[in-house]
Order: sequence, then structure tokens, then C-alpha cells
Amino acid sequence: MNDPVKLQLVSARMLTGSVRELVFAATGGAALSGYAPGAHFKFQLPVGERCYSLIDFEPRASDAGHYRFAVLLEADGSGGSKHMHGLEPGDEVEILGPVNEFPLQPSKPALLIAGGIGVTPIISMATAHKAAGTAFRFHYACRTEAAMAYRAELEAAFGDQLTLHFDDRAEMALDLAGLMQSCGSEEHIYVCGPKGMIEAVKRAADAAGIAGTRVHFELFTTAAEQAGDEAFEVEVKSTGEVFVVPAGKTIIDVLEEGGVDLVYDCQRGDCGICQTDVIDGVPDHRDVVLSDSEKAEGKVMQICVSRAKSARLVLDL
Ligand code: FES
Repeated sequence: MNDPVKLQLVSARMLTGSVRELVFAATGGAALSGYAPGAHFKFQLPVGERCYSLIDFEPRASDAGHYRFAVLLEADGSGGSKHMHGLEPGDEVEILGPVNEFPLQPSKPALLIAGGIGVTPIISMATAHKAAGTAFRFHYACRTEAAMAYRAELEAAFGDQLTLHFDDRAEMALDLAGLMQSCGSEEHIYVCGPKGMIEAVKRAADAAGIAGTRVHFELFTTAAEQAGDEAFEVEVKSTGEVFVVPAGKTIIDVLEEGGVDLVYDCQRGDCGICQTDVIDGVPDHRDVVLSDSEKAEGKVMQICVSRAKSARLVLDL
């Protein structure tokens, strides 16, 4: 990956009661690197690394001079979104990237599905397909109208290709089974949103006989603590060391603090890079990478988000 780049916040505005748009330029006016739709940057924040996807309402010009992001304030989060909401124009941040684990197939028709703040990379995909004249359908779901960011901009940009859904209005519910049935044989499906939405899309696509290679997804949550989370032990097979993973910390957090060398990326449970073999114990899977049968087998797990149902896990590390 490239060296870190320093950005300066040039403008910010609230899009909804809890979503803030932030526009950055390179500190000192340096040129910014390009990226493809679906890409994100890794912000190096005082609370740790956080990933935010890039938003383009216009086809990306090489000299655009700015990067645009939108961040949902997560009241129960670990502080990343709070930091981003507290930045003032002129403040600097360091980023790494761009990284793109959610690339758009440029010449294939697309069914784009966004849930809540997961709309950010989907906007850039819709913009790219519109500019290229490639067919796309854009479905955007939110809990309420008030929670929906960029509604007016999206309606102006994408017109009839955009369909809005609100959880509190039954007549506007997202009919995933119907959408999947209506998919053309060449159409690729892209979904970005919360875990429940991604799992529902994967299940609906599977039921409609759509190959997994045509379903692309990115999860928009971090390893949030859940009610009832308890501490458990992790044994590193190669050294025999045992670590305690408390509630509120991930296996990666604890093992890295203990000096174990790990490979990982998204830390949200959607890229599969941190997948680790389980030698003993029962994982509590919280990712969207594994199939239901792989989860039931319990032979591998994503150690960035998943935890344990047993008192101890022995991992092949
Ligand atoms: S780091 Fe991406 S799934 Fe764990």
C-alpha cells in the first residue's frame, strides 16, 4: 500500500440528524490519487484505523482535487465516527489507500442495493454506470425518510433508475425475492449495508439460483459489542500462549497487543482475509463471508469480528 497521505478537511455539513458529509483536499494542495468505484480509504484516527468509502456524484476526474465521504455517528461505536463528526475545517487526518475490495464490473448490468450509510460506495457505482451507459437499477433502503442521506441529490442524478424504500412504510418495503427473480442472466448484484441486509440478499440470490460469483457485498459496520458478550480464551496453537478476549475487544485486538503477527484488512467481517482455522472450540460467527454450512461446521472463522461460544478456542496461528 502507498505511504500515508495527509488530508485537510475543507468543508462539512450534516445530511441527516446523524450523517455528516466531509470533503477533504490534500494538505498543501498536492495531487490526490485516483480510485475506482467501490474504493475506500483507511483513516488513521487516534482511536484506530477506520474505513470510509468514497462518494462521487460526477464521473471521477483525475484532477478532482478532493475526496468526499459521509459518516454515520454511531452512539455505541468505538469512537471513530465521533472523531469524524468532531473534525473542523482545517483539521488534518492521515489516510492509507485507496483500497477496493468491492469493485464494479464495468461492462455488466448492475443491481445496486444500499442500506443506510452503505449508500456511499453504491453512489459511485451508479455514477460510473450512468456515465458509461451501462444498465443499472439502484435500490436504497433506510429505516425512515428522515434517516436517508442524499435523497434529493440521488433523485436528481438517477431519476427512474432509483427506487427508495423505508422500513416504516410497508408499501415501500424492499422485496428482495422479487428483485432477485427479476435479475437478468448477466446482471451483477452489489449490496452495501448492515449485516442483516447482506445476509438477506445472499439468501434471496441463492434461492433464485444466482451464482455467488455475481453477488458482491461490503459490510458497513464494525465489530460492535453485543448484549451478553462475555470474555473467552484463545490459545495460539504454534506457541501455546493463551489470551483472554474480554467483551468489547476483538480477537485481533488482543492477539496484536500480545505481539502475535496477524494478517487482516476490513475488520468488519466481509473480506475474508483474517480467516483462521479453528482446531478446537466453538466459534460465534459474526461475519458475512462464510456460508451457513461453513458456519455450522465451525472449522474456520473470521477473527476480526467473530467470538466464541465455548470457553476457549484453539486457533491455528
Ligand atoms: S479482516 Fe476482513 S473479514 Fe476479517
